[in-house]
Amino acid sequence: MSSSKPKILVARAVFPETLARLAQHFEVESNQADETWSKDQLIAKLQGKQGAFTTGSERIDAAVLDACPELKICANMAVGYNNFDVDAMAARGVLGTNAPDVLTETTADFGFALLMATARRITESEHFLRAGKWEKWSYDMFAGSDIHGSTLGIIGMGRIGQGIARRGAHGFGMNVIYHNRSRLDAALEAECKASYVGKEELLKTADHVVLVVPYSPASHHTIGAAEIALMKPTATLVNIARGGIVDDAALAVALREKRIAAAGLDVFEGEPKVHPDLLTVPNVVLTPHIASATVPTRRAMADLAADNLIAWGTGKGPLTPVTP
Ligand code: DGY
Repeated sequence: MSSSKPKILVARAVFPETLARLAQHFEVESNQADETWSKDQLIAKLQGKQGAFTTGSERIDAAVLDACPELKICANMAVGYNNFDVDAMAARGVLGTNAPDVLTETTADFGFALLMATARRITESEHFLRAGKWEKWSYDMFAGSDIHGSTLGIIGMGRIGQGIARRGAHGFGMNVIYHNRSRLDAALEAECKASYVGKEELLKTADHVVLVVPYSPASHHTIGAAEIALMKPTATLVNIARGGIVDDAALAVALREKRIAAAGLDVFEGEPKVHPDLLTVPNVVLTPHIASATVPTRRAMADLAADNLIAWGTGKGPLTPVTP
């Protein structure tokens, strides 16, 4: 006997508890083997499904939507939703949801960890030690740059950017400057101890630049060769936003030529591929898109994506819809 529950696809492996909750409301097909599907495979799996539990890896665009006319909602287990063509979804009446707030502090923690690892050359020195190259103490061995008392420049002052600003200003006595599409209100600026500046001034002044801006065609290559040329030769650059915000090829050249001191990257253009030149320069810390990866936070993200589907499935509006 066929089920009267709506059919959904869970496009990637998730916590078994999340699947069990979804199965109370939906007929669920899931990818617990965590296979990497081509677009054609995703389309084939979405046939007959009204809902999809997605991650940033599944591109939901006009071609997918047109091939899956029964699809009504895609719930992303991510705060970022640049994998959604939101205009194409809106034009076809397909809802999109994301998972904001639940990962803010965890991601800000990671941004700060990556900044510290980059400035203090932690992974570079660990590789040196593991390779058996440590023979003596030297006055300049892996000398990096200070965090405390330095100037932190944040591009993208949403919730995660604000979390990084608070950590820098309150925890490390940093002078925090930021650039954003719009200026924060005075009370929030005071709480974050952050001053608004133009992008060029930020790049010229900051000792450490952290990118937390969402990806869109307008933010593509926010940092390229011209922007790197404005930065101090001692500066560091951290990207926890999205691949494509930084021109990775230009950054690799700048790192090799020591035009800036170092970079820390959690996201990459075309990930999971990483630009081969980044893999061969020593002054970059590379991590595989794990800024939100703590067990409690990933559970909260999965729960929120499931809650969005369940709210839709039970006739309530989705909790955290995204808009074009
Ligand atoms: C997000 O939530 O957008 C993170 O980058 C995880 O994909």
